Amino acid sequence: MRLSHVLSEHRLLRLRPVCTMLRKSVLRLLGRTGASRLSLLEDFGPRYYTLGSLSARDDARDARAYFTTPIFYVNAAPHIGHLYSALLADALSRHRRLRGPSTAATRFSTGTDEHGLKIQQAAATAGLAPTELCDRVSKHFQQLFQEAGISCTDFIRTTEARHRVAVQHFWGVLKSRGLLYKGVYEGWYCASDECFLPEAKVTRQLGPLGDSFPVSLESGHPVSWTKEENYIFRLSQFREPLQRWLRGNPQAITPEPFHHVVLQWLDEELPDLSVSRRSSHLHWGIPVPGDDSQTIYVWLDALVNYLTVIGYPNAEFKSWWPATSHIIGKDILKFHAIYWPAFLLGAGMSPPQRIYVHSHWTVCGQKMSKSLGNVVDPRTCLNRYTVDGFRYFLLRQGVPNWDCDYYDEKVVKLLNSELADALGGLLNRCTAKRINPSETYPAFCTTCFPSEPGLVGPSVRAQAEDYALVSSVATLPKQVADHYDNFQIYKALEAVSSCVRQTNGFVQRHAPWKLNWESPVDAPWLGTVLHVALECLRVFGTLLQPVTPSLADKLLSRLGVSASERNLGELYFLPRFYGHPCPFEGRRLGPETGLLFPRLEPSRTWLVKAHRT
Ligand code: MSP
Repeated sequence: MRLSHVLSEHRLLRLRPVCTMLRKSVLRLLGRTGASRLSLLEDFGPRYYTLGSLSARDDARDARAYFTTPIFYVNAAPHIGHLYSALLADALSRHRRLRGPSTAATRFSTGTDEHGLKIQQAAATAGLAPTELCDRVSKHFQQLFQEAGISCTDFIRTTEARHRVAVQHFWGVLKSRGLLYKGVYEGWYCASDECFLPEAKVTRQLGPLGDSFPVSLESGHPVSWTKEENYIFRLSQFREPLQRWLRGNPQAITPEPFHHVVLQWLDEELPDLSVSRRSSHLHWGIPVPGDDSQTIYVWLDALVNYLTVIGYPNAEFKSWWPATSHIIGKDILKFHAIYWPAFLLGAGMSPPQRIYVHSHWTVCGQKMSKSLGNVVDPRTCLNRYTVDGFRYFLLRQGVPNWDCDYYDEKVVKLLNSELADALGGLLNRCTAKRINPSETYPAFCTTCFPSEPGLVGPSVRAQAEDYALVSSVATLPKQVADHYDNFQIYKALEAVSSCVRQTNGFVQRHAPWKLNWESPVDAPWLGTVLHVALECLRVFGTLLQPVTPSLADKLLSRLGVSASERNLGELYFLPRFYGHPCPFEGRRLGPETGLLFPRLEPSRTWLVKAHRT
């Protein structure tokens, strides 16, 4: 029996009583809803606390997970789009770590893509040696990611020696399997996008002097005609295997429209791919093993970074591959969903498990570009909105399916309403000394708030909406986990935000500030209202950790929740309601009483500043 099975069964046994208890409570909670009761239970029944059907989830939790961002070109400083790619991967891997039994089972890599014509040309334009440019810009990315709380376990640079070993080994495997041949490539090449383009993907653009020049139809970047002898990869052989892979794994590329697009691309002919350039033309790269006159194509070089990080070509890489989730922007889908899986299949390996695709950020409705001067520096944003604030904005407003627009007013409005007013206000209302003079987690009174809805009696104070709140917050961790699994972090945050609103409604409805601790009639109910609200806040704080780590830490510390009580696997909401002891009852609140998230002032000058960056 595998160790993971032993663990799973052990955990199952431990959780079974909780599940049975929950099933009963949920049955009671759903009370008189008759026909819908069974189906609801089947869907959500025992998962209230445990984030999923136990056996399947437990197995998944024991497995390893490896998240990657694209590696970033070092021709220019990072912008908010780059940070967004990294934040998505960061939130996914943080969420995964909170779910899993061992943080060592999750890896998260990012890094910089330092070879190729684009970098060679950028260095020449800047009058720098390529290594100087790479060192400088790679450091910018590293600093930005450190400041933004990107919790990567690996940062790779493609100029590292370990990467050269991996790429040359990978090349050797493709060669030995008969997948590389020498041939003449003649066609368009776009250095900005580092890709070859067929005639149909090239158009002509008018220059300032009325002259016309060829550009890529998709990106608008200039292209040039190339004719040279290269090594060619037999990509055409992989059309059917790729189709089979995608049809057999409908979740391989998420969101679904991108999966569909790739299948459409595969309906067309798939030509072989040139995978090297003449060294006299491209010297800044990894030489083809045994043929110094050729340099390996930068995309083949770059994609192999995902293997280098996990130790390839040493056998250790096998324990992480293919348990991989690549997070990428839509502009690099073809490279990750066609070239990369084809290279991997060619080398006798499996394609990655999942490819999560996101769309782009625009600024005030325009594409970010150096020439428009509207490239937004993420470090300025982190200063203006705080790290947690900007992380929250990008992940709450970023919808992977379509492009999203950034402008200052939008950030200020969102953060003030959701973090400062709704969440911060809620915390303040329940912990302020005048409402909670003992500064403790008050006791929950089961007579005031019986687990059976609809009971009547002199001490019963809970109303139907209060049961609805308990039900919403109880199912929230599972909902959030599902949204993470579907790469819909914005929906996870929307769900949390909606529960925050519901909890504020609960507090407003029962107006604890009008209740009196001295009155034997009011006191148990007052304690219960605060207890329920603090329990909701504890769930929100726990669930927000992957997105706003410092703010969540502040919130949970204020509630007196210790570091070992912040795991998703142990997130038992409102146990007293379900007839179990609550470890927080009577606990002293944390000493830090400052504002959770100070309101931001609108700025008239900000946009101008951002545009000039
Ligand atoms: N070096 C390649 C990736 C190689 S991975 C083996 C590359 N680098 S990049 O720096 O141009 O882009 C890195 C990531 O940033 C990509 O996922 C890209 O989609 C993303 N973004 C670039 N501009 C963006 C926006 N405006 N908005 C959101 N993400 C954007 O491609």
